[in-house]
Amino acid sequence: MTSYIGTPASRVDGRAKVTGAAKYAGEFNTNGLAYGSVVTSSIAKGRIAGIDASEALRVDGVIDVLTHENRPRMASTDGAYKDEVAPEGSPFRPLYDGRIRFSGQPVALVVAEEPEIARFAASLVRVEYDEEAHVTDVYRQRDEAVASAKPGENMFAPPKPRGTAEQAFPGADVRHQGEYYVPIEHHNPMELYASTVMWDGDGKLTVYDKTQGVQNVQRYVCRVFDTKPEDVRVMSPFMGGGFGSGLRPQYQAVLAVLAARALKRSVRLVLTRQQMYGLGYRPAMIQRIALGAKADGTLDAITHEAVTVTSQYEDFYRQETGWSGLLYKCANAKYAHKLARLDLATSCDMRAPSAATGVYALECAMDELAVALKLDPLELRLRCYSDRDQNADRPYSSKRLRNCYRQGAEAFGWDKRSSQPRSMRDGSELVGWGMATGIWDAMQMPIAVRIVLSANGHAEVSCATSDIGTGTYTIMAQVAADMLGLPLDSVSIRLGDSTLPQSPVEGGSWIAASVSNGIATASRAVRTELLRLAKQMPNSPLADAAPDEVALADGKLVSRRDVSRAVSIVDAMRHGAVDRIEQEKSTSFPNDGSHAHNTHSAIFAEVKVDEQLGVIRVTRVVNAVAAGRILNTKTASSQIMGGVVWGIGMALHEETLIDHNLGCIMNPNIAEYHVPVNADVHDIKVIFVDEPDDTINPLGIKGVGEIGIVGVAAAIANAIYHATGKRVRDLPITLDKLQ
Ligand code: MOS
Repeated sequence: MTSYIGTPASRVDGRAKVTGAAKYAGEFNTNGLAYGSVVTSSIAKGRIAGIDASEALRVDGVIDVLTHENRPRMASTDGAYKDEVAPEGSPFRPLYDGRIRFSGQPVALVVAEEPEIARFAASLVRVEYDEEAHVTDVYRQRDEAVASAKPGENMFAPPKPRGTAEQAFPGADVRHQGEYYVPIEHHNPMELYASTVMWDGDGKLTVYDKTQGVQNVQRYVCRVFDTKPEDVRVMSPFMGGGFGSGLRPQYQAVLAVLAARALKRSVRLVLTRQQMYGLGYRPAMIQRIALGAKADGTLDAITHEAVTVTSQYEDFYRQETGWSGLLYKCANAKYAHKLARLDLATSCDMRAPSAATGVYALECAMDELAVALKLDPLELRLRCYSDRDQNADRPYSSKRLRNCYRQGAEAFGWDKRSSQPRSMRDGSELVGWGMATGIWDAMQMPIAVRIVLSANGHAEVSCATSDIGTGTYTIMAQVAADMLGLPLDSVSIRLGDSTLPQSPVEGGSWIAASVSNGIATASRAVRTELLRLAKQMPNSPLADAAPDEVALADGKLVSRRDVSRAVSIVDAMRHGAVDRIEQEKSTSFPNDGSHAHNTHSAIFAEVKVDEQLGVIRVTRVVNAVAAGRILNTKTASSQIMGGVVWGIGMALHEETLIDHNLGCIMNPNIAEYHVPVNADVHDIKVIFVDEPDDTINPLGIKGVGEIGIVGVAAAIANAIYHATGKRVRDLPITLDKLQ
C-alpha cells in the first residue's frame, strides 16, 4: 500500500526555499513596520543603577526606548513565564527589573523607523551598573555543585543504581578511570533569532517567530501579557535551523510583542549574531567515568558522574550519565549528576542533549578500556552487548545495533585496521581509525491532525508542528499521500501556525513518529467517512465491506480482499453530494513502560594527522543507524550527515570561550566560534539498517533528528588517539593539545 514512504522524495518545500519564496520570521512585511534593536548588559551580575536614553531619543527616527523602568505591564508570577519546555526555577523575564543575571542580558529596546537607526541609537543608550562578583567558570564552581535530582525522581534524573559498582570496581581485572570535558557550545543556526509582530488592531497580534513550537510561544505570550488566546496567533512556517535553540520562547519575541503593544504598531526585532549568544547553549560539563572489566572484556562496574552548567535562576539538566549503564551489559552501575550554578543565561537543549555529551565520555572511556584490555574496540562493544534496557529491566521494542556494527564495519573496512597507535600512515600524515556507539531515545507525543479532502481529489493536512529544517513538510506529505491513496502533489501541508491542531514543540526527534501516526489516524477517519458514502451508492461494490477491509489507493476506495471491488473517491463524494470531508483526530501513544524505545548507531571515523603540524583532518566517516522505519531516505540521510558534520565540529572546533574576569563570551560570532566548513568535511557515508518495529507505534517510526551526532565526537577522538598515541579528553581537540 505504500509508494512514497521510504523513498528519497525531494523536499516538497525545496523549490520555495531555494527561490526565496519561503518566508522566515524576519522577512514578513506590513505597512508602518517599526524596528527594534536590543541593548545588552556589559556586566555579568549586579543591578542597573540608571539608564540614560536621552541621547538615543534625540536621534531622528527613534520612536521610543523601552526599559524595565518605563515598559508596559507584564505578568509578575513565575508561572506566567513557564513554557512547555521550562526547567525548574524562576524563568528569565526580559526587561522585567533592574537585576543583571548574565552578560549579554537585554536591558533596553530601542524602536525606530528604520533598523539602522534603531541599531545606531542603541549604541547611544548609557547604562550604569552596581556590579557584584560573578562566577562563570565551571571548574571553579565544581565543589559547590549541587545534586540535580534524586536518582529516578524524574525523566532527567540519573537512573537508580544497580548492584554495587563502587565495591566491584577495585576488584576488577582491568580498570579505566578518566575525566572528560565538553565546553559550552552554541547552536549557531543560520537564521538569526527574529520576530515580526503584526499589530492587527484592537490589540490583536500575529507573531511571526523563529520558534520550534508556535503553540508554546502563543500560550507563553498570552500569559505574560494577559491576553486572550484568540488575540495572539503565532506563525513559524519555515525555520533556518533550530537544533534546540527555539524550543523555549526566545526573548526577542517577548520584546517585540512588548513594543507592539506599547506603540500599537507592528514591530520587527532581529537579534544580531552576537546577541544570539545571550540565550541558551549546550552546558559545559565535566564527566568522570570509571569502568571495571573482567579479563575477557565483559564489564563488572560502571560509574558515571557529571557536573553540568546552569544559570543561577533555573536548574536546567538532562540525563548525561544514564546512557552508560544502558548501552552495555553490566551488573553494577552507579550514576551521579550535579549542577554548577553560574552567572550565565540558563543552558538549554542542543541536538541530542545529554547523549551527544554523555555518550562522548562513555565511548572514549570504552576505547581506553579496549586499549587496556588489548582488545579491538569493536570486539569490546560486542562482548558487552546488551539486549535489554538494564536501567529499567525491560526489552527494547527493537534494537538492531549489532547490524549497525556489522554493516558499518564492513563499509568502512574496519577489519584492515592495525591495532597499534601510530602504525598506519599516508605520506607525512598519521592515519587513525576509531569507532563509537550512538544511542538516542525514540519518543512520541500526543498530537492532533486535521485532513480536509476535497471532491477534486486534493487533501490538505494540517498540524501546528514546526518544520525546523528536518523535512517535516515532506514526510507529512509522503505519509498522507500513502494513507489517502493520492499522488504526492495532490497533498498540501499546513504547519507552523498556532491556530492549527495541537502539536508539541518539534524536538527530541519525536515529531516524525508522532505526526505520521497522527496522519494515519486522521486518514482512517476520512476513509471511514468515504466508505459510508460509498455504501450509499446504488449496487455499491463495497456494500458489505467493513472499515478495516478497505484501503485508499490510486484515488479509490478498494476492498483489500478483492481489488476489483472499488469506488473512486470523487464518485463517492459526488454521489453523497459532499464537496469536502474534514476529519480532525488526536493521537496519543499509550506506553505501559514494558519496552525501551531507542535508536542506535555505530560510527567509524578515519583521521589523518600531519605529524609535524598536528593538523587533523576527518577524512572518512561511516555512520550506520538503526532507527526503525525510515520515511524518507534522502531527508533522513541529510539529518545523519548534518549530525556527523556537527560531530566533527564538536570534536575539533566548537567552544564558546568566556573571559572569566569579565564574565562575558569572547567569541560570540561565527568567525571566532569555529564550526566545520566545507574544507573540514570529507567523505560521509550514511547507512540505515533494516529495523522493523511493530511494537513502538503502528508505523514503526523512531525519528532521526538527533541520533546522527551521538558518538561522532568520540569516534573521532578515538581515531586521533589511534593515529597519534595521544589521548585528549578535553574537547575540542585543537592542534595545541596534540603537542
Ligand atoms: Mo532538539 S535539541 O530537542 O531541538
